[in-house]
Amino acid sequence: MLRSSSSLRVLWVRLLWTQVLLDSVRSQEIYAPHSIRVEGDVTLGGLFPVHARGVPGTPCGDIKKENGIHRLEAMMYALDQINGDQDLLPNVTLGARILDTCSRDTHALEQSLTFVQALIQKDTSDVRCTSGEPPVFVKPEKVVGVVGASASSVSIMVANILRLFQIPQISYASTAPELSDDRRYDFFSRVVPPDSFQAQAMVDLVKTLGWTYVSTLASEGSYGEKGVDAFMQLSREAGEICIAQSLKIPHDHKPSDFDKIIRQLLDTRYARAVVLFASDEDIRGILNASKRADQIGHFLWIGSDSWGSKNSPIHQLEDAAVGAITILPKRATISGFDSYFMSRTLENNRRNVWFAEYWEENFNCKLMSSSKKDESSRKCTGQERIGVDSKYEQEGKVQFVIDAVYAMAHALHNMQQDLCPDGSGI
Ligand SMILES: *[C@@H]1O[C@H](CO)[C@@H](O)[C@H](O)[C@H]1NC(C)=O
Ligand SMILES: *[C@@H]1O[C@H](CO)[C@@H](O)[C@H](O)[C@H]1NC(C)=O
Repeated sequence: MLRSSSSLRVLWVRLLWTQVLLDSVRSQEIYAPHSIRVEGDVTLGGLFPVHARGVPGTPCGDIKKENGIHRLEAMMYALDQINGDQDLLPNVTLGARILDTCSRDTHALEQSLTFVQALIQKDTSDVRCTSGEPPVFVKPEKVVGVVGASASSVSIMVANILRLFQIPQISYASTAPELSDDRRYDFFSRVVPPDSFQAQAMVDLVKTLGWTYVSTLASEGSYGEKGVDAFMQLSREAGEICIAQSLKIPHDHKPSDFDKIIRQLLDTRYARAVVLFASDEDIRGILNASKRADQIGHFLWIGSDSWGSKNSPIHQLEDAAVGAITILPKRATISGFDSYFMSRTLENNRRNVWFAEYWEENFNCKLMSSSKKDESSRKCTGQERIGVDSKYEQEGKVQFVIDAVYAMAHALHNMQQDLCPDGSGI
């Protein structure tokens, strides 16, 4: 009995996979124009949030200029650099297949089937069309590694499928501590520090300043709660730090909730330092409430990287934020990328299938070929220039995208040296 039920299960799994495969081949026809293909001897996959999450019913929303376009162009820039480098992977051209996650884990999973298609399709001999002919498959390229994704939830979803096919994955932005679990995510690695590191930095800071009595405040959700958990655990290990209160900002809050939190924090008046893992909007709410309570200068805020060096959490609330200490992972601006990106035009950047959409959004104009023809709006001339006719500032994770691509390239280089010490090329 046991035997037959398990073989039934195998059959079931197989049927399911065939279905997934057929669906993905079918959807491939729809998605194919919406991915970037750069030819090469070896192909790297890339996952970027080119679009925001759509409203219910549609997978994708508006284009994301910084987190999407800057970051994916950073990958292409890194590939150009590596392919032009005589010492790194000589005589091997790195190619890419870049997909849009639309900032949604389920959409990213569907898209990522593209990466494993070549591996599933090894045996298609039992697939027949109704006419009796074998089906026609476009041979998908074999992806040797994947750069991405951005959001931790998306990286986690994709890591679960890539590990089944033993495809290594390197993220440039996912900081959730659970991704450090290398038994569950054995083919995942990243070039950004997990959030637990900034909790450690906060503990070090509190100890150095000699503060022994602090409160914590988190936005409800994984980022805030996991961050505060890490801080509490590390502070217990460090000793000599006593937590006065641990408060949470509810998801759907009213302004009065912030007033209540400030009143609660004032109950333990001597815990003036407040460790804050919260969203932009929640930070604003708290600062504003401390102002309303006439407590400017009372609290000593210690903010996480969601606050970092951003202006948005404190805009017009600067007086309530004076003295705050905020944490941000160390990063560099890549000047080579600035000159690369600012010199992109519609003519020289045809490989980026989302570039026309970016162009329209960035210069607030419409292209002739655009499907959304609207006579009332301004037409693009095509002569606009990034950084001249629009504001440009390098997105903060560009350096990490480039790091991730180089990590893949060095790994492939070392592998090639190990396997074929006397040869070059593939
Ligand atoms: C602060 O809160 C008040 C009352 O809710 C609101 O009217 C005001 O716009 C807020 N100020 C800022 C800068 O957000
Ligand atoms: C690259 O290939 C060319 C031609 O096959 C060969 O002459 C050259 O030595 C190779 N370069 C390296 C660095 O191996």
